[in-house]
Amino acid sequence: MGGDVSLGALPTAHAHGGSLGITGPTPRIFSSYQDFGPAQIQILSSKKRFVAVSAGRRFGKTMTGLYRVLCDVLSGPQRIGYYIGPTERQAEEMGWRPLLDIVPAPLIRRLRHSELQIELVNGSLIKLHGPQSLRGPGLDFAFLDEFAYMPPELWPEVVRPMLADREGGALLASTPRGLNHFYDLYLEAQTRADWAAFRFPTSSGGYVSEAELELLRATMDPKQFAQEILASFELQSGRVYHAFSRHLNVTDVPLVHGPKLLVGMDFNVNPMTAVITQKIGDECHVSDEIVLPNSNTFEMMEELVRRYPEQHGVVYPDPSCTARKTSASVGETDHAIIRRSGWDVYPTQQHPIVDRINNVNAMFQNANGKPRLFIDHKCKNLIRSLESLTYKEGTHVPDKSSGHDHIVDALGYLIVVVFPMVRHEVTFSRVQI
Ligand SMILES: Nc1ncnc2c1ncn2[C@@H]1O[C@H](COP(=O)(O)OP(=O)(O)OP(=O)(O)O)[C@@H](O)[C@H]1O
Ligand SMILES: [Mg+2]
Repeated sequence: MGGDVSLGALPTAHAHGGSLGITGPTPRIFSSYQDFGPAQIQILSSKKRFVAVSAGRRFGKTMTGLYRVLCDVLSGPQRIGYYIGPTERQAEEMGWRPLLDIVPAPLIRRLRHSELQIELVNGSLIKLHGPQSLRGPGLDFAFLDEFAYMPPELWPEVVRPMLADREGGALLASTPRGLNHFYDLYLEAQTRADWAAFRFPTSSGGYVSEAELELLRATMDPKQFAQEILASFELQSGRVYHAFSRHLNVTDVPLVHGPKLLVGMDFNVNPMTAVITQKIGDECHVSDEIVLPNSNTFEMMEELVRRYPEQHGVVYPDPSCTARKTSASVGETDHAIIRRSGWDVYPTQQHPIVDRINNVNAMFQNANGKPRLFIDHKCKNLIRSLESLTYKEGTHVPDKSSGHDHIVDALGYLIVVVFPMVRHEVTFSRVQI
């Protein structure tokens, strides 16, 4: 294969019944037959710069995405296309073999398995990568495979900027995983002019037989089947904040002039979280959130003052940290730092965690179906955590390993004090006999 072959623009993907048309000094035809069905062809034919695809298991996500990368890097010389998997190892396991199947051998100039990359005869490059150490070259195209299983910040903070200088495109595909960042991206893609969003069940892919699908339906629980096979975005089962619903509790919540700001705050260091609320009648209005990675109470108060320079209010902190000293060198307690910033601290008592959870759930919707807790759309972390925090299987202990407990705790510390449920308790402070 001569390196002098210049590759012309690929025919559009839907024209691929079988061959790639390659023009150059000596026109050559390479066969690259890929048996894509109508659903995959819809994805490949999209003219949008960014494409989000939610599809069931074995739909053909990986093959379709790799083919899209190939089309891109063959559309001109010296182009760079990345296949990104949830980890480096998974990138290799999921992507390497299908990549070799998809790239016609005569187009390969050099194949480096150890680097997980293929250099093509037109000087373009396809590389498989994990999410780590990705910052580097500008990209013409990125395919993020199983995006729901990647860190949420990977797309906005790492990959999207890599596409900036070459004005590259991207395909983000996944089977859903609850209502996590992939769900957010999928919803947003439907509203943006430069995005397309597709959702296909496994059956639309054409690679899994009817009989096999029936067998899966019989063996999987309904939620699992809906998520994995129908590619539907399902709420996790065993959710701690089961009464929360986007439909009832998420709306536009502007800051109102007048009422004090009431801030629930969790002192976890990474991330440190706070929710900004106001009490309007008997309702709690959450207008904003603050999430600071690797931070401390100084920085949190700085951020609060920066956002609300004119207002002061009350902080409802984590009651277990009354005397915790954030900064050993200064030796100030969290409460002292908050007060020094001009805010009051409500010295919350410890409440049983189950009371806090019940109290927050009741605010989302009471037994009469009335919601009293409203959250602004921009509080993405709070919304995601409320939807994702689940109990450890078989227990009533929230699963803290997910990291979704912090910001919901911040909300709970405030709710339990400002909007307490009526309790029928009798307390004896001292009994003398
Ligand atoms: N274009 C194609 N031509 C021929 N066979 C294909 C094609 N695309 C997919 N297949 C077949 O379907 C199988 C599943 O495809 P692929 O691995 O791309 O699906 P997936 O949605 O990524 O699956 P998973 O959910 O397991 O990651 C492949 O192993 C292959 O047998
Ligand atoms: Mg796959």
